[in-house]
Amino acid sequence: MYSREQLADIARATLRKNDRGGYTLPTAGLYPFQWNWDAGITALGWMSFDATRAWHEFDTLFSGQWGAEDLGGKNDGFLAQITFHKDSDSYFPGSDQWGTEALEVRTSSISQPPVHATMMRWMLERSATGPAQDLALERLAVLVPKLLAHHRWWYRCRDPQQTGLVVNVHPWETGMDNSPAWDAPLRAVPATARPYERKDLDHVDASMRPPKAFYDRMVYLMDFNRSVGFDPARMYAECPYRVNDIGIISILQRASRDLAHLCSVLGLNAPAQEMLMRVNRTQLAVQALWSDRWQQYVSRDTQTGALLDVPTSAGLLAAYAGFDRDCASTVAQWLTETPYGLPSTRMTFPRFEARRYWRGPIWQHINMLMAVGLADRGHAELAQRIRQHSRVLLEVAGFHEYYDPLTGDGLGGAEFSWTAATYLHWIYPEGQ
Ligand code: DGY
Repeated sequence: MYSREQLADIARATLRKNDRGGYTLPTAGLYPFQWNWDAGITALGWMSFDATRAWHEFDTLFSGQWGAEDLGGKNDGFLAQITFHKDSDSYFPGSDQWGTEALEVRTSSISQPPVHATMMRWMLERSATGPAQDLALERLAVLVPKLLAHHRWWYRCRDPQQTGLVVNVHPWETGMDNSPAWDAPLRAVPATARPYERKDLDHVDASMRPPKAFYDRMVYLMDFNRSVGFDPARMYAECPYRVNDIGIISILQRASRDLAHLCSVLGLNAPAQEMLMRVNRTQLAVQALWSDRWQQYVSRDTQTGALLDVPTSAGLLAAYAGFDRDCASTVAQWLTETPYGLPSTRMTFPRFEARRYWRGPIWQHINMLMAVGLADRGHAELAQRIRQHSRVLLEVAGFHEYYDPLTGDGLGGAEFSWTAATYLHWIYPEGQ
C-alpha cells in the first residue's frame, strides 16, 4: 500500500526511467518505441512537473507525421501508431516490417485514437499565466497546424463519403486491440501465410495477451496496407477489415471540439469553423451506433452494416465526446458490478475475460477520460466514484498496463507510463 506522496514519486520516476530523450516508452522491453496515444496521455504526466519536457513529447511524436511527399503522397497529415526513433529487437512488428523504409523517420502504417488536441488543451489550461502560458502558446503555434493536418487526414482518408463516422482498417488502430467487438469483423480477414516471430510473449504471460489466430490476422492487415501502396482510397474500399470504432469516433469528436478551441485561441477562425462543421456532422451520424440492448454506443462493421453489439468501455466515452446521450446511467450500472472501476468489457458479457488484454481488464486512462467527460456533463458524483476506484487500485497495485477487475491484480507491462501519467494528472492533484 503506497501513500499519495510515495505514488507521485514513483510516477515521476517511472516517466524518467522510460524517457529516451524526447520520447517516452510505454514500458521498456514490451513496447520499445514511441506510441501515438500513449504519447498524448503521457505528456499530461510530464506536464505536472516539467512543462518543457511535456510539450517536447509532441514534437518528437509529430516528427514522424507523414507529409505530402511521403510514400505515394496520399496520406498528408497521417500520424502513425508507432514511431521508430531507434531500432530495437524486443518488439514485433518492428521498423523493418511495415514497408515504410523510405521514410526519414520510420513509422508503422496505421494510426491510433487522436487524443492529442484534447491533451494539449488540458496542458494549456494548466498553464494559465506567466512563462508557462508563453511556452504553451509558443508550442501551440507550431503544433496546431500539425494537429489540423492530422484531423483533416482522418476526415479525408477515413471518411471520404462524409458520413460523419470515420472508419478504421486495423484493430491495432483502435488501441483496444483484441476487444471482443472485433471478433466478428476479423472473421473476414485471412490468416497470414508468412512466418513471423512474436516478441510480446517474452515479456508478458500468454494468458494476458492475444492468441496466435489474432496475430495471424494483424500481420495480414499490416501487409495489406503495403500491398496497396498505402493508398487510402484502396484501403477504404478493399481492406477486408473496415469498422466504425466508437472509441476512435468519440475521441476524435472531443479532439476536434478542442482543436476548434485551440484554433480560436490562436486566432485561426476558419479552421475552427471547419472542425466544428465536422463535429456537427458526427453528432447526428453517431445516433446510428446506439445499442438499445446495452443502452450505450457500440461499433459497426461497415462491410456488412451490422452493429457490433458488444458492451465495451469505448462506447461509454459518450459524455467525453459530448454526444447527445451521455450514458451516465449505464456507467453507474457498470460500476455496481466491480469494486475496482470500469472494465474494458462489461463483466456480464459472455466473452468477458478478466485478465486478457482488451477483453475485460481495467485501463486507467480510459477511466480518466470517461470521468472527466462525466464531470463536464454535470455528473460530478459519478466521476468522483470512478476516480476513487482508480485511486484505491493504484495505491495497492502501483502502475501497471492494466488491471484485473475481479481481483485488482496489476497485469501486462509494469512501470507503465500512461498509468503513471494518469495518476499525476487526474488523481494526485485533487488529494484524497
Ligand atoms: C501491441 O503490440 O500489442 C500494441 O498494442 C500494438 O499497438
